[in-house]
Amino acid sequence: MASHVTFDLHARDGKARAGAIQTTRGRIRTPAFMPVGTAATVKAMLPESVAATGADVLLGNTYHLMLRPGAERIAALGGLHRFMNWEKPILTDSGGFQVMSLAGLRKLTERGVTFRSHIDGSKHDLTPERSIEIQQLLGADIVMCFDECPALPATDAAVAESMRLSMRWAKRSREAFGDRPGHALFGIQQGGVTEELRGESAEALREIGFDGYAIGGLAVGEGQEAMFGVLEYAPDMLPRNKPRYLMGVGKPDDIVGAVARGIDMMDCVLPSRSGRTGQVFTRHGVLNIKNARHQDDPRPLDEACGCPACRNYSRAYLHHVFRSQEIISSMLLTWHNLHYYQQIMAEMRDAITAGQFADWQSAFHRQREQGDI
Ligand code: GUN
Ligand code: ZN
Repeated sequence: MASHVTFDLHARDGKARAGAIQTTRGRIRTPAFMPVGTAATVKAMLPESVAATGADVLLGNTYHLMLRPGAERIAALGGLHRFMNWEKPILTDSGGFQVMSLAGLRKLTERGVTFRSHIDGSKHDLTPERSIEIQQLLGADIVMCFDECPALPATDAAVAESMRLSMRWAKRSREAFGDRPGHALFGIQQGGVTEELRGESAEALREIGFDGYAIGGLAVGEGQEAMFGVLEYAPDMLPRNKPRYLMGVGKPDDIVGAVARGIDMMDCVLPSRSGRTGQVFTRHGVLNIKNARHQDDPRPLDEACGCPACRNYSRAYLHHVFRSQEIISSMLLTWHNLHYYQQIMAEMRDAITAGQFADWQSAFHRQREQGDI
């Protein structure tokens, strides 16, 4: 019998949920944070190191991989998991969002989008059908619908028109995906910061029917307050028995606030990208290792962190290798940041399961306020 991707909720505490998505490549514990492996690598990390931080699933990008090295090439080499040596689940984003933020000379029509590569200027085409095909060639366990994410601020009319196009593309994505045991297809809700449009989008997606539901179109410059405003109602518009994925979020306090409002999955480049720019996330807040105050400091980044950067190296050393632009700087800081993010997720899962999420959340904020870092 073919196995399906399933989602089991183990516990609820307020609106927060703890559970697991079961895939043929393993279990994704939720709430889950997905490190971003855009170009078939989580930059500066070996896959086994990413797994050691506690990640159950990675995010890959249709847009980048179709341009280089090409989806057909990866398929011929045995798929993305084998290509990048990551055996656990992979979720791929569908490309529309990245085309809008990265590509040159875009042209959007009902059929899809044509654009020029940000790498070499070559001309390409993405449609719902081709995006789904690429994600299948890559071998993604979780495939995302092809959508359009409008830049905010935009008029309600523009957001509505864009959202309705994304819903027509969601239907085409569903038809192109068909029935693929062992693989899941997620819809993406759009509608900006307007409750009525979010409701219309959710209804359209539920009517089509998906294995999971993402909330898109947020973290595009609207600010945390506006985003949390949408998260007060948007998760409740989506089926309770399916995973809810907030795309492209965020800072640690965004993630905690999203889980508190009923989100099960998130992804963000922040912990990995910040690792390369010297920004370090800790229980007590953010520190910048570039700062001269660290140059004689024998303490670790965080006394309580179990990652290799904190177990084996001082702030003084990390400051030195960052200033010297040594490659190990990106490796150690990325490892620490990803470890910290996964630590938060694990603690939230435990707190929700124990029915103590509100207490955990207060302690999380208290530690940051007392922030002497
Ligand atoms: N990543 C962050 N936001 C979005 C979105 O709205 N759509 C897609 N496809 N990816 C995203
Ligand atoms: Zn650490």
